[in-house]
Amino acid sequence: MEKNIILIGFMGVGKGTIARAFAKEYKVYNIDTDDLIESKTNKEVKKIFERYGEERFRALEQETANWIEANVKGTLVSCGGGFYKVNNLKSLGTVVLLDASFEWIHKRLKNAKNSKAKLAKRPLFAKEKEAKKLYNERAEIYRQVADVIVDVEKLATKEILEIISQAANISK
Ligand code: S3P
Repeated sequence: MEKNIILIGFMGVGKGTIARAFAKEYKVYNIDTDDLIESKTNKEVKKIFERYGEERFRALEQETANWIEANVKGTLVSCGGGFYKVNNLKSLGTVVLLDASFEWIHKRLKNAKNSKAKLAKRPLFAKEKEAKKLYNERAEIYRQVADVIVDVEKLATKEILEIISQAANISK
C-alpha cells in the first residue's frame, strides 16, 4: 500500500474496529489520531477537553495531521470524529468515510459490552441531543470530503474491508 488510508466518520461508527480488522487482514500498520495525541501529550483526550478545551484539542489534531503528512506512508490512519477539519486532510491519503445513521451509531454504542467506557471517553457524545445535532451538522461535510463512502449499516465487515482494500489498491 503506497498511499495512506484515512478513515473518517462519526464517533462510535466503528472506525477503530474496522481499522484493526483491516490491519490484521491486509498486514498493514494501523494508527489512531486520538492515540497519537494521547501519546504525545501523555493526557487522555477527555482530560484535554476538560482542562484545555476543544480548541486546544483541534490544534493538536492539526499538529498530528502535519506529522502524518511528513512522516507516515502506507498506513491505515483511523481518525477522531472531528479530524476531518484539518486543513491538509486530502494530502494525507485516500479519505474513506464510514457512514451510518445516527440511530444505528447510538444503538451500537449503547449495546457495546463496554458501553459505559465507550461513552465516557467521548465528551461530545455525553448528551444524546447534542451528539445528534453534531451528527446533523457534520453528515454532509463528511460525504463531501470523502473519496470513498462506505455504508457500514448495510454491509458485513468482510465487505467493508473489501471496499477499503479496493480504495487502497492492495490485495491480501
Ligand atoms: C471527537 C471524536 C473523538 C475524539 C474527540 C472528539 C469528535 O474520536 O477525537 O472526543 O469531535 O467527533 P472518536 O471518533 O474516535 O470517538
